Amino acid sequence: MPKRIFSGAQPTNQLHLGNYLGALRNWVELQHEYESLFCVVNLHAHTIQQDPKVLAEKTRELARIYLAVGIDPQVSTIFVQSDVPAHAELAWLLNCVTRMSELDRMTQFKEKGRKQRENTSVGLFDYPVLMAADILLYQTDLVPVGEDQKQHLELTRDLAIRFNRDFGETFRVPDPFIPKVGARIMSLHDPTKKMSKSDENPNSSILLLDDADAVRRKFKRAVTDSGTEIRFDPARPAITNLLTIYQLLTKQTPEEIEAHFADKGYGHLKAELADVTIDFLTPFQARVHGISDEELDAILNSGSERARALARPTLDAAQAHMGLHGSHIAGR
Ligand code: TYM
Repeated sequence: MPKRIFSGAQPTNQLHLGNYLGALRNWVELQHEYESLFCVVNLHAHTIQQDPKVLAEKTRELARIYLAVGIDPQVSTIFVQSDVPAHAELAWLLNCVTRMSELDRMTQFKEKGRKQRENTSVGLFDYPVLMAADILLYQTDLVPVGEDQKQHLELTRDLAIRFNRDFGETFRVPDPFIPKVGARIMSLHDPTKKMSKSDENPNSSILLLDDADAVRRKFKRAVTDSGTEIRFDPARPAITNLLTIYQLLTKQTPEEIEAHFADKGYGHLKAELADVTIDFLTPFQARVHGISDEELDAILNSGSERARALARPTLDAAQAHMGLHGSHIAGR
């Protein structure tokens, strides 16, 4: 059996450079080594309020982005979460083995939901369980994600282990794949915070669909550290973040990059970083816009068909092990 990877992104707001460098970039690399499934997780999007029409558009746009970054639909399965009902069905079963205290500990929930707990949806609290269902449904070996998903992956592993122990062997226990470089790209506005889709400051992230002017303007406004030296240094998080983006886009080593900028100033670094980013984004955006509706429909239809077929046996097994799925009918 080839090893399998599963990952996904939410079709909320717009994808940024952090999503690409921390996650999607690795999906593209790993798809040739693993059997791969990439999901547009639109059910997760509803954990915060959504305009249904906008969500439907963003769902298609994100699938286009997957294709345009280089996910090959001949090699990988691309699909939309809500097209495979087994995700929600398994999430319910897993809900019943998850403890409230486990979800209460999730830092993402603490950041997003705690502030206004009274108005927060139960869905937001339960978000990590649906994510566990996404992963466990496909007997996934490896989950390529950014560092912010690490705690959700730990919960997924705990739930798989607990379910297997209590009901019998059902799920493979997956490992996270978190890259050594780029797992946490920071905000351009505040290098102590990660670059985030929900950041209210538009200058904090470079969006994958930003035009060249916006890219130049945002890098120009990016905060820097005191001093003038351009080198990788954890004590200088703003410059290190800019250099990390440069490193991942140019595939140069830190030594080469530090030598290249040795006698140059911050303004020069920002201008060159804008150039390499625009060189990456321009052909990528042309691909996003070049995918026809018919092509996209065909890819998503065959993707969801394949995903439904792969998910079925695991959902059946989980239900049967829990005394469901017809196992209550006499003689079965
Ligand atoms: P989402 O949509 O927030 O982000 C998609 C991916 O981008 C990564 N990422 C980052 N990486 C580096 N630096 C950053 N600043 C940065 N911001 C985001 C995320 O870690 C993620 O890999 N819960 C997931 C979606 C999901 C999922 C799954 C992922 C649902 N089910 C099953 C894997 C497997 C999320 O909200 O991603």
